[in-house]
Amino acid sequence: MRAPTWTIVLSAAVAALVLGAVFMARGGGWTVDGALEGVRITARWAFPWFILAWSASSLARLWPGGWRSALLRRRRAIGLAFAANHFVHLGFIVLAAGVFAMPLSPVSVIGGGITYAMIAAMAATSSDAAVRWMGRARWKILHAVGGWMVLLVFTNSYVGRLGEKPWLAIPAVGLIALALLVRVAATLKGRLSGPAAPATL
Ligand code: HEM
Repeated sequence: MRAPTWTIVLSAAVAALVLGAVFMARGGGWTVDGALEGVRITARWAFPWFILAWSASSLARLWPGGWRSALLRRRRAIGLAFAANHFVHLGFIVLAAGVFAMPLSPVSVIGGGITYAMIAAMAATSSDAAVRWMGRARWKILHAVGGWMVLLVFTNSYVGRLGEKPWLAIPAVGLIALALLVRVAATLKGRLSGPAAPATL
């Protein structure tokens, strides 16, 4: 039986909230340090969801069938789950900054804010009706640009932590490099053998 999209999205977001609350409790409770732990764990939880959604069509093109094709069929649910998870990250940021006066750099507010606007736009247009309303070409541009922006912010965040948190940043940067490699290989295969798999996020 195919799980409805909303159950996947809701379960992922509830898991993000629970993880955030547990890490907040362990990391200092109702304090700025606690809230920061919530910020960190929710970004870590959202990251693999994004990588899966971003790599789904490349994986299915390189190795059609099996779990790769199943992943591609559920890409919309996985992408929406990433968006829901990442809005929980935003919730903890608002808590840390709004309630506990955690200072935020203008660069992260502007860069992160624009990226959040793109994530919201992608989530709001993750439906067949939106594809028809926008036209496939414009829809694809929005989702391609948004995907690259999110990848860039994750890359920047994890590359920036290579020195400070290598145990976290090395696997994360490795996963990003792997996702890029898979994307390049799938693009090359597509150029040689025909049109891309249909996009559904
Ligand atoms: C207004 C927007 C945003 C603000 C203000 C913000 C703020 C923060 C803060 C304060 C942290 C904790 C830093 C620390 O460890 O001390 C953090 C961590 C992080 N954020 Fe965000 N963020 C924003 C948007 C984003 C976006 C759009 C992404 C990804 C697409 C992202 C990915 C991450 C990652 C990967 C971490 C590292 C988590 C870890 O240490 O494991 N953030 N963010």
